[in-house]
Amino acid sequence: MSETVFVTGGAGYIGSHCCKLLAANGYRPVTYDNMSNGRPDFVRYGPMVEGDILDGFRLDAALQEYRPKTVVHFAALIEVEESTREPTLYYDVNASGTLGLIEKCKEHGVEQFIFSSTAAVYGEPPSSPVTLSTPTVPINPYGWSKLMSERFLHDCAADAGIGVTIFRYFNACGSDPDTELGMRFEGASHLIPRLITAAAEGTGFSIFGTDYDTSDGTCVRDYIHVWDVANAHIAALNSPVEVGCVRTFNIGVGRGFSVREVLESVERIIGSKIDLKFADRRAGDASELIAGDIDEAASELGWKAKYTNIDAIVRHGWDWYLAEH
Ligand code: UFG
Repeated sequence: MSETVFVTGGAGYIGSHCCKLLAANGYRPVTYDNMSNGRPDFVRYGPMVEGDILDGFRLDAALQEYRPKTVVHFAALIEVEESTREPTLYYDVNASGTLGLIEKCKEHGVEQFIFSSTAAVYGEPPSSPVTLSTPTVPINPYGWSKLMSERFLHDCAADAGIGVTIFRYFNACGSDPDTELGMRFEGASHLIPRLITAAAEGTGFSIFGTDYDTSDGTCVRDYIHVWDVANAHIAALNSPVEVGCVRTFNIGVGRGFSVREVLESVERIIGSKIDLKFADRRAGDASELIAGDIDEAASELGWKAKYTNIDAIVRHGWDWYLAEH
């Protein structure tokens, strides 16, 4: 019988890619998702329980039924700008949601906990790339809600009897190379789906801020393929951490691209010009976030990003757009 892994947010973007890889690696992923952002057709690799992360009764019932050894916690709100407008919602779902889940893991004898954190915990870092010793000073409630969750995990791991792996993802993007899963285009706030839609449909695209202190004035990010992000979780499962211990990794490529450079990549791959506009800076945005210390994941988990070429990442996003339209 294959080992059960309980995946909160398993119907979402990163969660569904993770479930696919879990199944391919012999695990049984059980998705727990309230379907607020998830897609029912993405839940195809194992059973599903519809439930909210803040619903303790539902969580109890699901953990009781499936008795997982490992919980992978993706369920969260993820929009930086929205978090500046709806901070209480973000603290509730992301921070309280994680705290409640830790308590449930303790009650149900979960042994390993893998947490989706974010580069947003670094805020506006004083130097680049950001290493694991770069101070964590978030500049938006989203980043704070994830940093608080990290704190909870540090403080509770021993008492809850869990070994914790924290992944600080940089900018997850791209889509399943087999085009079964992918990013959301409609109503998307993220850069690559917006650029692809603009290039494909001739709708305008606005750059948020061209006066940042970067090489071309636009924000720089470390774009990491969702497939590589998902694979990091398999690597963590395959080398568990001791109970009571917490280990943290930056999950990125270690190279940054500006908004303009990503735009050029999308134009290259799709072969059409984007109708470019310029807008003010977006609230909560850091100027540059590039992952440092990526060798830690290589040496401890044997994980390394496979997709280091931005064009390859954009191409998978474009393939998914074509599959969806
Ligand atoms: N951008 C534009 N125009 C757009 C959309 C985005 O110029 O229409 C810019 C943003 O201002 C930013 C960059 O593109 O400079 C990337 O923005 P995204 O919205 O794609 O991603 P973020 O960097 O805001 O956030 C993502 C995740 C967070 C994570 C963060 C870590 O959504 O969960 O990466 O780097 F915390």
